[in-house]
Amino acid sequence: MAGRRRVAVLISGRGSNMASLIEAAQDPAYPAEIVLVVSNRPEAGGLERARAAGIPTAVVDHKGHPDRASFDAGLDATLRQHGIEIVCLAGFMRILTPGFVESWAGRMLNIHPSLLPAFKGTDTHARALAAGVARHGCTVHFVTPELDSGPIVAQAEVPVIPGDTEATLAARVLAQEHLLYPRALALVASGQATFAAAPGPAT
Ligand code: GRF
Repeated sequence: MAGRRRVAVLISGRGSNMASLIEAAQDPAYPAEIVLVVSNRPEAGGLERARAAGIPTAVVDHKGHPDRASFDAGLDATLRQHGIEIVCLAGFMRILTPGFVESWAGRMLNIHPSLLPAFKGTDTHARALAAGVARHGCTVHFVTPELDSGPIVAQAEVPVIPGDTEATLAARVLAQEHLLYPRALALVASGQATFAAAPGPAT
């Protein structure tokens, strides 16, 4: 195919999903290349993993910005400096402003550890166990201003097994996340999955 999409992965922590995307993109036939990893936390373990894989990294520290708009402007500038075309949130623990999200509409993905629309937000595995569901899983979706609510690109299910703890269930879901995110990004990078947001109301 003509050119691979330039992707940035945004992380806040250990970066295991980031690592699965980097590994998938090592195949020259993969329709995207990971050209940048950005963290809002300088101590995020994933940064070292990215460097070890030879991927350029950047830190946009939220503590160095007075408010969300300023942080998002810094993030946006970093992404544009690197010619980023698609943004993948992968354990990125910051709420982004609607203006930032809208400027990346259709070009920003998130992975969430539940079968959306069930269990939006945090503590998804504990809440799934408390609810007694038989099936749990993960979702890759386009990011829209409302948290964990954008159009779904792909999902993977796992069974909830009697005796599961939060840790055993999280591990079962995470193994699927690592398979799902590269597949979902490939769909978006190759143009097989698209999302065109409607323009906002006239002001
Ligand atoms: C994953 O479970 C992801 O779905 C959630 O945060 C976790 C990040 O893990 N949003 P990692 O940093 O990719 O290992």
